[in-house]
Amino acid sequence: MDKIHIPVLLNESIDSLDIKPNGFYIDGTLGDGGHSYEIFKKLSPEGLLLSIDQDQHAIEFVKDYYKDSLQPNWKIIKSNFAKLDEVIKENNIQRLPDGILLDIGLSSRQLEESHNRGFSYLESSEPLDMRMDQTLGVTAKDLLTVFSEKELADIFYKYGEERYSYRIAKEIKKNISNINTVGDLTRLIYKAVPAADNSITKNPSRRVFQALRIVVNDELGSLQKVLDKSFEILNQNGRLSVITFHSLEDRIVKNFNLEKSRSGEGSLLFSKYIAPTDEERISNPRSASAKLRTLIKK
Ligand SMILES: C[S@@+](CC[C@H](N)C(=O)[O-])C[C@H]1O[C@@H](n2cnc3c(N)ncnc32)[C@H](O)[C@@H]1O
Repeated sequence: MDKIHIPVLLNESIDSLDIKPNGFYIDGTLGDGGHSYEIFKKLSPEGLLLSIDQDQHAIEFVKDYYKDSLQPNWKIIKSNFAKLDEVIKENNIQRLPDGILLDIGLSSRQLEESHNRGFSYLESSEPLDMRMDQTLGVTAKDLLTVFSEKELADIFYKYGEERYSYRIAKEIKKNISNINTVGDLTRLIYKAVPAADNSITKNPSRRVFQALRIVVNDELGSLQKVLDKSFEILNQNGRLSVITFHSLEDRIVKNFNLEKSRSGEGSLLFSKYIAPTDEERISNPRSASAKLRTLIKK
């Protein structure tokens, strides 16, 4: 299998961690392993890298793709990054991390090779699943069934910033028995939204799918938990670097960093954030909305 995901802000994020060859680093979002491998290459045999992903397909891909580079000091574990502290304990790691990297969201592999999970609104025949960790109980279809019209509208508005959230929710509840696939849902969204707001560039399915995915995977709750836990366990002068792709995530990271710098517990590496260069945006359009923020623990 080939690599699909192009790591975003690769040099900037690796530089932000200020990697010491003997240090201990955590990559909470392994994906296709692009960032992890770059960290691993900078470590000596005394250094340690712990890479985590909640998607079993990501774990299997990286273990196979990097099989010739794998060493005992690169641990690859399937877990939710919100359980970072438990993973460290279970693996009997007796060191404090010198740097933690989080590259939030979906990988291009999950969008393009979803294993029938319906992450992309373009894959019309796939079921409405959207679970990154397939051992979780609740799928996107379950949410559409269980939530009321108002609850669905609130979700689309809050997590998708969708202005036609009520119309879409109403249409969904009216047709719930006929919604099983991605295509069933996108056709219905198309019908619910006025023609002028239904174009390829403004496709409302993108926002509704983002909202459902955030709720299915409790993405914002996990992000808040991992920030708290990461900062707590970081070594003195350790760095927490987070790459986000939309404003809801970025707000959580920005507020967390500001709170730690105001309280004097941490300091900001960049006065604002680092964004991709024009060159990176053009060569990898998925990087366009990325923001990297780094907090240093005092
Ligand atoms: C943007 S991709 C990371 C790409 C990676 N940096 C690379 O260079 O290939 C995000 C990855 O994080 C994983 N992920 C998202 N939320 C997670 C969570 N709460 N716990 C563990 N992994 C998570 C996803 O499954 C996905 O593989």
